[in-house]
Amino acid sequence: MPDATPTLANRIGPDALSARDGRTLEVINPSDGSVTSLAPRSSAADVDAAVAAARAAYRTWSRTPAPARGEFLFRAGQLLVERKDAIAQVMAREMGKRVEEARGDIQEAIDTCWYAGAEGRRLFGHTAPSELPRKMGMTLRRPIGVVGVITAWNFPVAVPSWKILPALVCGNTVVWKPSEEAPESGHCFAECLWDAGLPPGVLNVVHGTGEEVGGAIVAHPDTQVLTFTGSTAVGRRIYETAGRMLKRVSLEMGGKNPVIVLPDADLDLAVDGVLWGAFGTAGQRCTATSRLIAVGDAHERMLPKLVERAKALVLGDSRTPGVDVGPIVSKRQRERIHGYVEKAVAEGGKVLCGGALPTDAALARGWFYPPTVVDGVTRGSTLAMEEVFGPVLAVLRARDLDEAIEIANEVPYGLSSSIYTRDVNAAFVAVESIEAGITYVNAPTIGAEAHFPFGGVKATGNGHREGGWAPYEFFTEVKTVYVDYSGALQRAQIDNRTGE
Ligand code: UN1
Repeated sequence: MPDATPTLANRIGPDALSARDGRTLEVINPSDGSVTSLAPRSSAADVDAAVAAARAAYRTWSRTPAPARGEFLFRAGQLLVERKDAIAQVMAREMGKRVEEARGDIQEAIDTCWYAGAEGRRLFGHTAPSELPRKMGMTLRRPIGVVGVITAWNFPVAVPSWKILPALVCGNTVVWKPSEEAPESGHCFAECLWDAGLPPGVLNVVHGTGEEVGGAIVAHPDTQVLTFTGSTAVGRRIYETAGRMLKRVSLEMGGKNPVIVLPDADLDLAVDGVLWGAFGTAGQRCTATSRLIAVGDAHERMLPKLVERAKALVLGDSRTPGVDVGPIVSKRQRERIHGYVEKAVAEGGKVLCGGALPTDAALARGWFYPPTVVDGVTRGSTLAMEEVFGPVLAVLRARDLDEAIEIANEVPYGLSSSIYTRDVNAAFVAVESIEAGITYVNAPTIGAEAHFPFGGVKATGNGHREGGWAPYEFFTEVKTVYVDYSGALQRAQIDNRTGE
């Protein structure tokens, strides 16, 4: 291993620490199989220490005026701007996102710094007239306590920023487990907050596996709030444990995002959108386009072009200029993806491009998988229903818009969705009818912006939204305040019922 391999540390209060029992995890560059860093493989004891640090810091942080809390985020945002290129290199090396897309990931966190920082000057409550004279009613927001944050590898900076920054500006303190597949990216993000002067203990980081560290964060009696991005299977387990403990939980899980293309659409635009949605980040986004639902003759008119363009995408090391599609994050994940393609073929699907492990020697050391288009996928088959999390597009056909919407809605998930059409009526019918948290019109399923709510329905989530203004509700408790300035006892519901 080269000497330059960074060894990461947990951050507990002011201290950079190894795991208590000294174990480490190797992080592998998926483009070439080399070790990129060593991260602590922590256990419940490390989580206990981090939660204790977060609890201790909560007293002062929760009383720091919210606008002052927001200023730390502005400073952190500035540091992210300065370090954007360097962090993008780390991210590309560590989890295989192309450098250009890694920069986008970091930009999303920068945008969230500005939004969340400014929210420190709002955190609005509500006022309404009282039923009684000389009395007023209003609400204000209070922080909740220690927030446990568990995030995935595919957006190792943007998604944590959606959770951590609102949690902090609301006055909570945080214990975060970054993904064990992208701990260094997580570290770089957290470092911007620490370097911005965030008081010790306000943001603690514990590296390790989901089972050991994630499990301990979830089960700890002092993490009152949990926010998770990852698989539906894990999210369900978290919700079960946390539910018994009456914790507040936000879950952001799988997707099976459809693009409906109507025959009247600008088909070249639709091809561009489907390619970017399906194969951007090698399909490893919860918002990735995983189903193309082609209506009528849109199918035969767009597929040849789509396949030709997919075949021309260049597979390669995430840091090489000119590469369009980087690697899959791990060998195990690549096997899973390939398993889905094999199953689709067994169930009658026809692979129009991709579908096989690359044989090119330059790609042999990494975990690459080519952009794959499977036509003739039937409703209800495995590839039509299950999340792949890789560069695999299932093509289904529909007779008309109604059938396309029926197909779009027959999966267990509901995160993102899209329709391509020039018909404004059809577009609004889709907007109204598709069961999803996000619907794009004439745009791909990916590319959510930091200042709009993000999240999904059905098995994608549990009713919460990240991004935009929604998380400030999630990360605070509302207190209702009544002030009676009449100087007399006024009995609500009794003294004001004069007209009866
Ligand atoms: C995710 O895949 O977990 O809309 C988040 C998008 C990105 C966020 C994706 N802005 O694709």
